[in-house]
Amino acid sequence: MERTVVLVKPDGVQRGLIGEIIHRFEVKGLKLSSLKMMNMTDEIIDEWYAHHKERPFFPALKSFMTSYPIVAMVWEGVEAASVVRKMIGITQARAAEPGTIRGDFAVSTQMNLIHASESVEAANKELSILFTEGELFSWERTDMPHLYGEDER
Ligand code: CMP
Repeated sequence: MERTVVLVKPDGVQRGLIGEIIHRFEVKGLKLSSLKMMNMTDEIIDEWYAHHKERPFFPALKSFMTSYPIVAMVWEGVEAASVVRKMIGITQARAAEPGTIRGDFAVSTQMNLIHASESVEAANKELSILFTEGELFSWERTDMPHLYGEDER
């Protein structure tokens, strides 16, 4: 099973959307394998968003992401990274498709509620930044036979 990292950004925590966001992934059929609330630090943000470091919005992004706690999660499933990316919608939340998390709940490009790993490679890097082995739980959803065909698992 593929693993992907999701963050409920400070705006999502402040707006009381943690439960709604978890609910969407749970009912979709993904499996939660880790969950924690934490404060992002400047050092983590520098590593996390290293590919955005030269962008004009980087200082504002850093200040936003360190302003209040975030909730970090790991979700598992077949092709979990692409499934989750589709469910969150595009960065520019005002233009995000209705039915996506950003499309339904956000109107900003910066305050777009949620982060999700871009790829399996990105997920592995993000996992190593935020989670220890002991924080990753391995368990079976008992509804697995009702979520996937045998040849898909
Ligand atoms: P995300 O696409 O998850 O990752 C990069 C983040 O930077 C993005 O969400 C926004 O939160 C923020 N971001 C991207 N573009 C802009 C922008 N033009 N202005 C402000 N923030 C931005």
